[in-house]
Amino acid sequence: MKIGILFGGKSAEHEVSCISANSIYNNIDTDKYEVYLIGITKEGKFRHFTGSPDMMLDCSWESAVSDSRVDILGNENPAGIYGTDMSVELDCIFPVLHGPYGEDGRLQGILDYSGIPYVGCKMMSSALCMDKIYTKQILNAEDVRQSRYVVVKKNHDTEDVRGALEGFTYPLFVKPANMGSSVGITKVKNYNELENAIKTAFRYDTKLLIEEGVDAREIEVSVLGNQDDIIVSTPGEIIINDDFYDYETKYVKSTSKLQIPAEITKEQIKEIKEIAEKSYRALECTGLSRVDFFIDRKDGSVILNEINTMPGFTKISMYPKLMEHDGVSYKQLITKLIELSFEQL
Ligand SMILES: Nc1ncnc2c1ncn2[C@@H]1O[C@H](COP(=O)(O)OP(=O)(O)O)[C@@H](O)[C@H]1O
Ligand SMILES: [Mg+2]
Repeated sequence: MKIGILFGGKSAEHEVSCISANSIYNNIDTDKYEVYLIGITKEGKFRHFTGSPDMMLDCSWESAVSDSRVDILGNENPAGIYGTDMSVELDCIFPVLHGPYGEDGRLQGILDYSGIPYVGCKMMSSALCMDKIYTKQILNAEDVRQSRYVVVKKNHDTEDVRGALEGFTYPLFVKPANMGSSVGITKVKNYNELENAIKTAFRYDTKLLIEEGVDAREIEVSVLGNQDDIIVSTPGEIIINDDFYDYETKYVKSTSKLQIPAEITKEQIKEIKEIAEKSYRALECTGLSRVDFFIDRKDGSVILNEINTMPGFTKISMYPKLMEHDGVSYKQLITKLIELSFEQL
């Protein structure tokens, strides 16, 4: 079976995607799958990459792409790679993309159009989970506890925002509605810092949210399956020795560590697993998602933070590590995800 791994992409999480995709390439079951690497440049061009996979790690891969045409829309040919010396129809696409244009439903819509099976959430669930405001609205309707927030759009009135924030306790977190990897997020300690934080978030999106900060432990679970058969992993914790889990802490410094399983109470584990499954169903996720929680240090309450439909996916990332803890190896996980994509047709 021929699998196309899509990586890179137009978002600020381009680099992270290349590293996750490299890890999948190195661990996929080659007895079952023949892999074709398709890189998406930062400008959004799809290219068949034929160089050494190590070049994905430092993003030098763009200098070793072939000039074959990658047809993902499946307009004239079935989705595949077509060149003078090769013509490959793909059986399945594994999009390993994070953030806008890759994880937010736009690419999923194109793949739906071409009719090719692909790993992960479909268009609508991808879009809803990417947008932190819609995620909140849908899950509020399901009575899932989340942190309090205010929505701010371009051309907002500063006084209105100030009024809406009355009663909120600092610190606050200002976030672009659609981003990931903490890009554009600022922790704000007092009102004077708010304006700059809003400006920063608007560099990445046209709407943002301001959330009340929770003094929290960060707990995550992996969810695997389509809507009829859902597995929720044991929760893990990210121990952050920093102000918050920002981009630097995630990828540059190695000050945070994963604690698997998380050392929390049986009741908290049960509650987290139930909320994760309920949220996954409500947002109609398929394939996989990592559901992220806060546990309030003051009273131990469980608060849902966000759902990532394409979580970090290197061999040592939280999502695969949690599945591995529960008995699904990284290689088996990749196979399972590909198999799940065929069930969705
Ligand atoms: N309401 C909050 N209270 C406390 N910490 C928060 C809050 N919102 C975000 N954070 C911190 O910022 C990090 C990134 O925020 P998150 O909403 O998960 O965005 P992203 O999609 O970029 O990962 C979180 O992992 C956490 O460390
Ligand atoms: Mg997050």
